[in-house]
Amino acid sequence: DRLPELLRGMPKAELHMHIEGSLEPELIFALAQRNGVSIPYASVEDLRRAYAFTNLQSFLDIYYAGASVLLKEQDFYDMAWAYLQRAAAENVLRTEMFFDPQTHTARGVAMETVVNGLHRACVDAQAQLGVSAALILCFLRHLSEEEAFATLEQALPHRDKFIGIGLDSSEVGHPPEKFARVFARCRELGFHLVAHAGEEGPPAYVWTALDVLKVERVDHGVQSSKDAALMRRLAADRIPLTVCPLSNLKLCVFPDLAQHNLGALLDAGLVATVNSDDPAYFGGYLNENFVQTFAATGLTAQQAFQLADNSFVASFASAAQKQAWR
Ligand code: ADE
Ligand code: ZN
Repeated sequence: DRLPELLRGMPKAELHMHIEGSLEPELIFALAQRNGVSIPYASVEDLRRAYAFTNLQSFLDIYYAGASVLLKEQDFYDMAWAYLQRAAAENVLRTEMFFDPQTHTARGVAMETVVNGLHRACVDAQAQLGVSAALILCFLRHLSEEEAFATLEQALPHRDKFIGIGLDSSEVGHPPEKFARVFARCRELGFHLVAHAGEEGPPAYVWTALDVLKVERVDHGVQSSKDAALMRRLAADRIPLTVCPLSNLKLCVFPDLAQHNLGALLDAGLVATVNSDDPAYFGGYLNENFVQTFAATGLTAQQAFQLADNSFVASFASAAQKQAWR
């Protein structure tokens, strides 16, 4: 069976990964030591053992704890550089990386420390690895819209270093419309817009991400298959879904990969893509997501090429650049 080889070798884009979710336990311990930060785990193995999640919130609690070791610009650079080297090795030509500034500014880390470290890694990725890398700033939806506005204000001096705005963290109870005004402002400012919706939350959240926030892509969106009218809307408007199969498995969104609805989304004519979400926590980078999902669901080589093409189509790179990749 040569499908795994084809999946690993094919050029692709990654459109849904949180850079803080690429922080491996080894790097968490190294940065904790370098910065004199104490973490409530005895060893790398002890920390890895804690990665047994039952839902999104059980993951987020550990993910935010892990990010507490990031203090200096070099820490953010080192984290992003480790991921970007991995992306290059996996034939990722383009990556659009989420970052969560509020996780860091709440601990007293300056916005410029976060953005400058991540952006320098993006510049070096193009020059040294040939990987096109861009940043998407996410607001934490468990915090208020007022706090999102304050974060936007802090980030605007760096607006040339990120291309878009996203929405992540605890979904249920925090619908997209909570952020209607700040997304309207980001739209006026010319940023690309995306939002996590329909990961654990209902199809109604995907509708309001589209109709209230006016997002160009939906992150996850897998709950959309419960609403036939929504599926028709996503297909008709060619709204991409950035699907993350191993994340969905580890956060118990699907009981096993064989029951994942990626194939159904493709069959319905949606522009679905495959992504790693938080690869250090969910047991695999992008190629592992492809290989395990194809093995479990019986997707075909033709669907592999469709997914790779979708990833370029759905990216925010220039039309000329996308054409060159496809
Ligand atoms: N932050 C990091 N990963 C996330 C996910 N899968 N859903 C919501 N917020 C996140
Ligand atoms: Zn995500």
